[in-house]
Amino acid sequence: MSSTARKVSLTGIKPTGEPHLGNYIGAILPALSLADSYESVYFIADYHALTTIRDRDLLRHYTRSVAASWLAAGLDPDRTTFYRQSDIPETFELTWVLSCVTGKGLMNRAHAYKAFRDRNREAGKEDLDAGVNMGLFNYPVLMAVDILLMDADVVPVGRDQLQHVEYAADIAGAFNALYGDRFSFKVPKPIVPDEGSAHTLPGTDGRKMSKSYGNTIPLFAADAALRKVIRRIPTDSVPVEAPKDPDSAVVFTLLERFGTPDVVAETRAGLVAGGVGWGEVKARLTDALIARFAPLRERYETLMAPGSELDDLLVHGADKARKQTRPLLEQVRDAIGIG
Ligand code: TRP
Repeated sequence: MSSTARKVSLTGIKPTGEPHLGNYIGAILPALSLADSYESVYFIADYHALTTIRDRDLLRHYTRSVAASWLAAGLDPDRTTFYRQSDIPETFELTWVLSCVTGKGLMNRAHAYKAFRDRNREAGKEDLDAGVNMGLFNYPVLMAVDILLMDADVVPVGRDQLQHVEYAADIAGAFNALYGDRFSFKVPKPIVPDEGSAHTLPGTDGRKMSKSYGNTIPLFAADAALRKVIRRIPTDSVPVEAPKDPDSAVVFTLLERFGTPDVVAETRAGLVAGGVGWGEVKARLTDALIARFAPLRERYETLMAPGSELDDLLVHGADKARKQTRPLLEQVRDAIGIG
């Protein structure tokens, strides 16, 4: 992977929730499209999730669920490398090595850690580090390792993760400055998708769809559950017969994204003229989502079943990844004087 022609793109996915439509549009599809132009690596960052998830069944569930979602969405495990972070033991050895070349001050300035302290400050707590575990503090080092171990050229991330990729580059630089005569890490670059574009989707309250806003629409819910979520989306109380502004309502914006052009055009006309009510728009949106996602959901459910091929796929992916990580770690060990 390291010396061949194509550049490497690496995507890390933290398993901390059920996949929703916003993930699909904002993260999954753009990341999968990179597989056309890059040697693509995708992994489930289960040990990153451990900084916040303390329920073993839940961590296991999210890990499988996120893996199954990406596969159902079209991730091709033959054409890419797809694995669980925890299946790559080299990760944890390199984490220590890179911790030893990383300034503590760099971690003190990490956005996520600072935000945690700010919340403690606002809550009037005396100890600003209250509730901060070392995993949260070291999170950026582990993430740098994920990236550097796979020799990634580019890392597609949202704005919130940009600093972490910059840190990975800084940490690579620190190592290279010390040991570069024997071994140098490739210095990775972030790719940040432009926002406010095709990659963002409004949630049920009109704000960007995000787990933290509690405004998500699940990707693989059963029809009845999906219908219920859509029915609850707030709309105004303009009566069915009255003309309405289609673009004022999130249900229509979503229909525009997932409905067929015919249905969208007809719905727009009916809203503008009057005669189509929000209840009808919601029904059409639900139908559009079911039509689009039913085949994916079927694949998802097959993969989620106990004893499915999911676990084998991940183990096989880890074997593939370790063909890269094992020799890299050997070079690192040699460069630093271990072993
Ligand atoms: N921190 C990322 C997030 O919260 C997940 C992640 C872990 C990651 N390791 C990575 C992303 C390496 C890109 C590269 O979404």
